[in-house]
Amino acid sequence: MDVMLREFGRYVDDHNRTDAFARAIAEIVRPDDVVVDVGTGFGLLALLAARQGAARVYAIEQGPYLELARAIAQDNGLANRIVWVPGNSASVVIPEQADVVISETLGQLALEEYTVEYLFDARQRLAKPDSRMLPQELRLSLQPVEVTSLRSHWQTTYGPAWTDVAGFDLRRLRQAVLANEALPYVVHDITERDRLLGPGVEVARFRLGVDTSSRFLRKVSCPVETAGMVDGLLATFDVELSPSVTLSTHPSAPRTHWRQVVFPIVPARLVSPGDVVDFELGFHGNAGWSSVLAQPTSTGADPGTRGAEGSGSGA
Ligand SMILES: C[S@@+](CC[C@H](N)C(=O)[O-])C[C@H]1O[C@@H](n2cnc3c(N)ncnc32)[C@H](O)[C@@H]1O
Repeated sequence: MDVMLREFGRYVDDHNRTDAFARAIAEIVRPDDVVVDVGTGFGLLALLAARQGAARVYAIEQGPYLELARAIAQDNGLANRIVWVPGNSASVVIPEQADVVISETLGQLALEEYTVEYLFDARQRLAKPDSRMLPQELRLSLQPVEVTSLRSHWQTTYGPAWTDVAGFDLRRLRQAVLANEALPYVVHDITERDRLLGPGVEVARFRLGVDTSSRFLRKVSCPVETAGMVDGLLATFDVELSPSVTLSTHPSAPRTHWRQVVFPIVPARLVSPGDVVDFELGFHGNAGWSSVLAQPTSTGADPGTRGAEGSGSGA
């Protein structure tokens, strides 16, 4: 089974994603523009740009989807404006410089497909120096969240059983396991059963076509405004597609197929208004994500437990 092909089916169901890109392309692409679409997949953004009046769209795709994309373009009467370019964008050449670079190569938490690196390269090599970018900016945010459904899952794995193993108290082993284990982030639908315990704090920001690298390692202090149990840090991204269109994976925005990502805090930490959750988040390319929770510095910490330290790797 081709996993990416299955993903394409999910993209089609994600009307908010399609609508946002359609509106942004209508705003950014002008008649007779030459456009590059990095990672065209089944060709959706190329079709939108061609319909918008682009003279030519160079649709670049590294996967085996271009025959399908070409047939779809023919079905929709737009094949004559699209040039299909097989290969990775970093290794292809095209015969002219583009006016606009468009792309949707956003991973589960935006960065995993190296969209920052590839869009910088595409703009440098395949487009005019004053070319327009779509997307333009990407911002990642974190905020403390209470998710009881995830807590019960993590408690089953790391919870009470450790206090009575053949009558022995093995909580010390649990601490060692948690400090050692790579706890990957969890993809989760935040619902009304979950509670956001504080405001979002920006942890990273990238200008597409300008910034060269997605790698970062940053400490962030997330304030708590509502008492509760912090089960993790909710990680969301906002991607500014054009001056008037921003697509967001935050639960307050219309739902997208990306849903939400939670970096787990195990065991959950009891917090009160005025507390701060100190966290260090990093993206390290092929090595994935790292997430480390600092020790609590204020009262209100769950007595008898320590903050989990974990490094997660991306989806
Ligand atoms: C998230 S999918 C989105 C497909 C399409 N852009 C859309 O919006 O429906 C990303 C696609 O980009 C391709 N891709 C990612 N990075 C690429 C690159 N640097 N060069 C060529 N293809 C790339 C992947 O193979 C995949 O088909």
